[in-house]
Amino acid sequence: MSDQLVLEGKRVVLGVTGGIAAYKAVELCRELINLGAYVIPILTEEATRFVSEKTFSALASEPAHVSLWSDPDPLPHVHLSHRVDLVLVAPATARFLARYAYGLADDLLISTLLAVTAPVVVCPAMHTEMWDHPAVAANLEVLRSRGVVVVEPEQGKLAGGDVGMGRLPPPPTIIAEVVRTLASSDKEGSWRGLKVLVTAGGTREPIDPVRFISNRSSGKQGYALAKEASARGAEVFLITASNLPPPKVAKVVQVETAAEMDQAVRSLVPESDVVIMAAAVADFRPAQPRMHKLDKREGVPTLELEPTTDILSWLSKEYPDKILVGFAAETTDVRERATRKLETKGVDVMVANDVTKKGVGFEHDTNEVTVMTSTGEEMFVPLTSKEEVARAILDVVHRMLADRQSREIGA
Ligand code: CTP
Repeated sequence: MSDQLVLEGKRVVLGVTGGIAAYKAVELCRELINLGAYVIPILTEEATRFVSEKTFSALASEPAHVSLWSDPDPLPHVHLSHRVDLVLVAPATARFLARYAYGLADDLLISTLLAVTAPVVVCPAMHTEMWDHPAVAANLEVLRSRGVVVVEPEQGKLAGGDVGMGRLPPPPTIIAEVVRTLASSDKEGSWRGLKVLVTAGGTREPIDPVRFISNRSSGKQGYALAKEASARGAEVFLITASNLPPPKVAKVVQVETAAEMDQAVRSLVPESDVVIMAAAVADFRPAQPRMHKLDKREGVPTLELEPTTDILSWLSKEYPDKILVGFAAETTDVRERATRKLETKGVDVMVANDVTKKGVGFEHDTNEVTVMTSTGEEMFVPLTSKEEVARAILDVVHRMLADRQSREIGA
């Protein structure tokens, strides 16, 4: 991955409400800044009873906002809501959750939240009895149903010496959720800094200078994936065995045989973050391709075949840290065969399709696939364009990347 800070260029409103855990929001603000975020603090009136507005003004990217009325901007909630990638409320009190669930826009924070279209993450923190109250649970349910992400509190020491559920989680846990939420909300350009290697087309294994063994793969699905990854901002390396004109991506390597594809993959994989093996690589090749065209007057030739390298299996052994995507074009027992390949080839994502179905797979402009992951996710994409299938596959890879990134931060 690039050296860019994980929240570089991201504008985060940090809402702080009036609970004792407000003092922990100071550390959270610092951490967000350290990771490259532009932090705009909004404190509720009650929050200022626990922490000073000055503290946040000193640490954040701009002075803290506290009131609809005292802000130098006559419409602070509208302007703040326009220039933000995510709103994080930590800690979120029971009172705040109730006001937010009811849309009670009686202060700057809730007014901003009602005006904003960016994703929102709330981190409730309160005493166990309050956390367990059905009113709090109901308000959280309302907020979740509207797409608000909730970082649940932790078990531990609470104010006053009590022990129980309700503690605000530490900054790395909260920031991991911020990163995950930002990653899944921002597709366009979100792969900037990533290098993605895509293979496409069916390899040709020469029998003699004019004949070859090949398969029906056209390369269209691989091309759609390369185009989509490029549109998302990734630097794309495309290794193609297809005859179709390749899309405009950072680098295109034209190959013919499985051995050439293997070589090209080996040279480009060290600098790639994600490898998508959409190519239909021949499993066998003529052991001794003839130098001259076979002559039928010499009789029916016997072709001795030898296995090629299984590129994907090699990749998963040599580069276990890369995200690897494989394809399984099947004609029978699709699920079973694809699941087996997911495991034996050691990939993160396996895209399975039944190529006996009308409009599915080889040569068509359409496809119908099941995307399976090593974490047990399974997603069916009904018959649609190969571009749409590419988007669905990359969304799954996107989630994996975000999970990986947030695990690294949370670790
Ligand atoms: N693959 C590979 N190298 C090979 C053969 C296949 O990297 N020599 C990759 C393909 O690009 C694809 C995945 O492995 O992403 C599954 O290919 P497939 O041909 O379905 O798998 P095989 O292991 O060859 O199994 P089968 O016996 O069904 O052909």
